[in-house]
Amino acid sequence: YVIGFQPDIKGELPYDEEFTGLKDRIIIKFSHVVAENTPKGLAAAHFAQLVKEKSQDRVEVQVFPNGMLYTEDTEIAALQHDDVQMIAPSFSNMNKIDPMWLVMDLPFLFQNQEEVDRSLQGALGQRLLATLEAKGLKGAAFWHNGFRQVTNNVRPLRTPEDFQGLKFRIQPSTVLERQFKALNASTISTPFNELYRTLETGRADGQENTISNILSKRLYQVQRFMTISNHGYLGYVVTFNKRFWENLPPDVQQLLQEALRETSDWNNRESLLHQNQLQSLLQNQSLQIITLSDEEKALWKKRFEPLYEEFTVIIGKNLMNEIR
Ligand code: LMR
Repeated sequence: YVIGFQPDIKGELPYDEEFTGLKDRIIIKFSHVVAENTPKGLAAAHFAQLVKEKSQDRVEVQVFPNGMLYTEDTEIAALQHDDVQMIAPSFSNMNKIDPMWLVMDLPFLFQNQEEVDRSLQGALGQRLLATLEAKGLKGAAFWHNGFRQVTNNVRPLRTPEDFQGLKFRIQPSTVLERQFKALNASTISTPFNELYRTLETGRADGQENTISNILSKRLYQVQRFMTISNHGYLGYVVTFNKRFWENLPPDVQQLLQEALRETSDWNNRESLLHQNQLQSLLQNQSLQIITLSDEEKALWKKRFEPLYEEFTVIIGKNLMNEIR
């Protein structure tokens, strides 16, 4: 009876404890959309292991990768309904919670990871996390992935003119939509686990993503060119169902927080290592890699400049001034 039994506690402690001996067992279902061998996938597994050790098996984190339970379109609602207790959506998926998150999509907002960290650990991070409370969510940590690069299968992309008439798959964000519009390109938004098919079937000519996502989903099989542009940042907000979190015993909250902190440190080191996977991508003959000169990069930046003005209205003047 007990073997293979997975109590679905939905934020409450279960069931016939005498019978199962699982009285104090807490299950946290953690759903995410990327592959296991990516910064987020690895961090999720690392976190689950740490929680297992720290709680001596009292708390079990069950990780569901690759969008097998929910995609970006459905995972936030699933969390709010307590169908899962933990997710780690990328920032571009959070603007449906609050438009303030759009700020993280602005092209060339951050020059490097250090700038991202400084902002997220400071006032910006606090303000973003505060938007979640009213929506029944508890933001608990930020995890890295890295900077976005552009791939496509039509031509090498060096200058803004090269984008003319092409179609790009994007994450659901009006900033990303406008970013490509500024390059005279069009967009289509699809969930991450449909990305490969979207490119393979020609519904989009290209897309933007981090090296680890490009590699782990083998996008190089359906793309011919990759421009190292580092134009956008892709990160994650690790989020619990708020009511579930608040109902946890204080000692469990504390051990989860400790495990999260350790995982964040580990993930942030790990995601930098992942950048080195570029090497193996480079060795893949079928994908031509284009590196931008400083002059070319300056042209991209100039083209994106109006977006800052445009989105100030939505993101808020104060926040925008603070960031800039
Ligand atoms: C995407 O392109 O949708 C991905 O970047 C999603 C993710 O979680 O990394």
